[in-house]
Amino acid sequence: MATNLIGTLIQAGGIYALTWVVWRLSRRYTMKSPLDNIPGPRPTSMIFGNLKDMDDSVTMWKLQEDLMTKWNGVVKLKGFLNENMLYVFDPVAAYNVLLRDHYVYESPHFARSWSKILFGDGVFAVTGSQHKAQRKMMNPLFSIAQLRSITPTFQNVAKKLCAAITTQVQSRRTDSGEIDVLDWLSRAALELIGQGGLGYSFDQLVEDKPNELGDAIKNIAPSLSGGLLSYGDVISTLDVFGDSSSFKLRLLDSIPFKQVKQLVSCIRTIHDGCQNIYEEKKAALMAGEDATVHQVGEGKDIMSVLLKANLEAVEQDRLSENEVIGQMCSLVFAASDTTSSALARTLHILAQHQDIQDKLREEILKASNNSGAENLSYDEIVDLPYLDAICRETLRLYPPVGLIFKETNEDTILPFSKPIVGIDGSLISEIPVPKGTKVFVGITASNRTPELWGEDALEWKPERWLSTLPRQVLDAKIPGVYANLLTFSGGGRACIGFKFSQLEMKVILSTLIESFRFKPSKNHSEIYWNATRIVTPSIGPGNSPTMPMEVTLIKDD
Ligand code: HEM
Ligand SMILES: *[C@@H]1O[C@H](CO)[C@@H](O)[C@H](O)[C@H]1NC(C)=O
Ligand SMILES: *[C@@H]1O[C@H](CO)[C@@H](O)[C@H](O)[C@H]1NC(C)=O
Ligand SMILES: *[C@@H]1O[C@H](CO)[C@@H](O)[C@H](O)[C@H]1NC(C)=O
Ligand SMILES: *[C@@H]1O[C@H](CO)[C@@H](O)[C@H](O)[C@H]1NC(C)=O
Repeated sequence: MATNLIGTLIQAGGIYALTWVVWRLSRRYTMKSPLDNIPGPRPTSMIFGNLKDMDDSVTMWKLQEDLMTKWNGVVKLKGFLNENMLYVFDPVAAYNVLLRDHYVYESPHFARSWSKILFGDGVFAVTGSQHKAQRKMMNPLFSIAQLRSITPTFQNVAKKLCAAITTQVQSRRTDSGEIDVLDWLSRAALELIGQGGLGYSFDQLVEDKPNELGDAIKNIAPSLSGGLLSYGDVISTLDVFGDSSSFKLRLLDSIPFKQVKQLVSCIRTIHDGCQNIYEEKKAALMAGEDATVHQVGEGKDIMSVLLKANLEAVEQDRLSENEVIGQMCSLVFAASDTTSSALARTLHILAQHQDIQDKLREEILKASNNSGAENLSYDEIVDLPYLDAICRETLRLYPPVGLIFKETNEDTILPFSKPIVGIDGSLISEIPVPKGTKVFVGITASNRTPELWGEDALEWKPERWLSTLPRQVLDAKIPGVYANLLTFSGGGRACIGFKFSQLEMKVILSTLIESFRFKPSKNHSEIYWNATRIVTPSIGPGNSPTMPMEVTLIKDD
């Protein structure tokens, strides 16, 4: 019965999809668009335009370089079936997309449908007033007071990480060994958001692997990547079957591909896992203070605070159970791979600059010595100037997420800071952008613009943060929430966790650099950074994520 129904639906869906394709095609090739006059690179595929290049790491780096150097901050790209899209990094254009008109430039339809299937009604899936309401409930969870209170939790995870790495290094007979630093960093990142965000331990950082829920979360990104952009539009046509995620999940499950089956099984594990954590938290909260403080994170984690605030909120501000569980899944997903990517990149660069690594170590040792306490306080950690400069400079030059992807939900006008030359030779200083246009904001490109950051924009120089930034940077009104950079985006959909993430990075880095010396791997001194989604290191194109390094204990240095 059920399979019959699904079969009929798939047929109906097929006919619908075909009609849709023919209609879109005829419209795209015949209708004039205001974007036709915007210059841009030649598409590499008739069907997928420039999208295939963006889905492939090797071509993506080339395309990105091309977009940054050959064009002027506003570029046209071709999408699925000759669709016109925009790629912008001009500061005024970025300001309009991310800040001024951020409810016009929404997260794209297909990304929201996917998020809803993956994580339910969390921030990634909702728009408009529902999104605004969720952010309002969640913003206080990322306050400085909240960060102060979870600092010891982070330090505890950092100490476990050190112990684990020490054990692995010492098992190499000599006190220096090559280890996969990425593996440890991603386990630590998951544990940090687990303990600090959910009040839940995924991974004690001692045994071989994280638990089933941790594994499922780690597997989501790899099973999604490849073709996500290219097939995005096709995926969002699933929406004709209605809004029910459980139905879409059943539909996906009926597709006889191993990769899809794996994905569905991961999604189920994540839903059940988050639901269970939610039930436990709620029960503890109902049972009162005593029960809460005995949990992981002692009730100081983000979710415990959210549940409490939610119970106390007035009716119309309150999040539904579905929304709260949606937030849990969304946060873990948003926090883990981004953080481990940023940490891996920082250690990789420090390994290549031993002098800077030494100077940083000196700063940390001096602070520990001056503090006298066993652990540095929140203020002592965030105030370390050299560590701060190193984090900023790494996140400037090497943002873990290189692109922000938006889609207009109504017609609008996009102005730029300086006119560009159209294909017909005319000067254009603003363009009408039709409803439904996909717009990419180039994070990497904005962070590296030589006109803003200077001739040395492509060099990694932490010192640039120790004096005043160039006038042009300060005057450009770059819409980023962090350090005049777009690394954590900006506006109403900026990264909610950027301060949380800074604290994570600083706690982990200060603890690791105090205890170990990091050097490039002897066997794999070249590290390849895969840019298909969140930038990830490996030993070469086509290899799975890993970052071997030579690690030495400092006390025996
Ligand atoms: C170095 C680490 C991180 C980087 C580079 C990063 C970057 C970003 C970026 C670029 C966005 C905007 C995405 C878009 O609009 O397409 C974003 C959104 C978001 N990030 Fe982060 N992030 C990091 C860490 C974290 C952490 C640790 C958390 C949670 C504790 C977090 C939670 C979120 C959430 C919930 C959103 C969605 C906000 C919304 O749609 O309203 N992120 N992040
Ligand atoms: C320092 O941190 C460790 C691990 O996080 C903790 O066990 C210890 O109690 C802390 N020490 C002080 C004095 O707070
Ligand atoms: C490095 O390569 C050499 C020779 O190929 C090998 O013997 C050695 O085990 C490798 N070291 C590590 C840590 O992988
Ligand atoms: C730590 O402090 C003591 C006295 O306050 C000083 O003698 C020592 O040199 C300091 N060590 C470092 C590494 O700064
Ligand atoms: C980049 O990562 C994706 C997803 O893990 C993988 O499918 C692809 O082969 C990788 N590309 C390169 C060049 O390593």
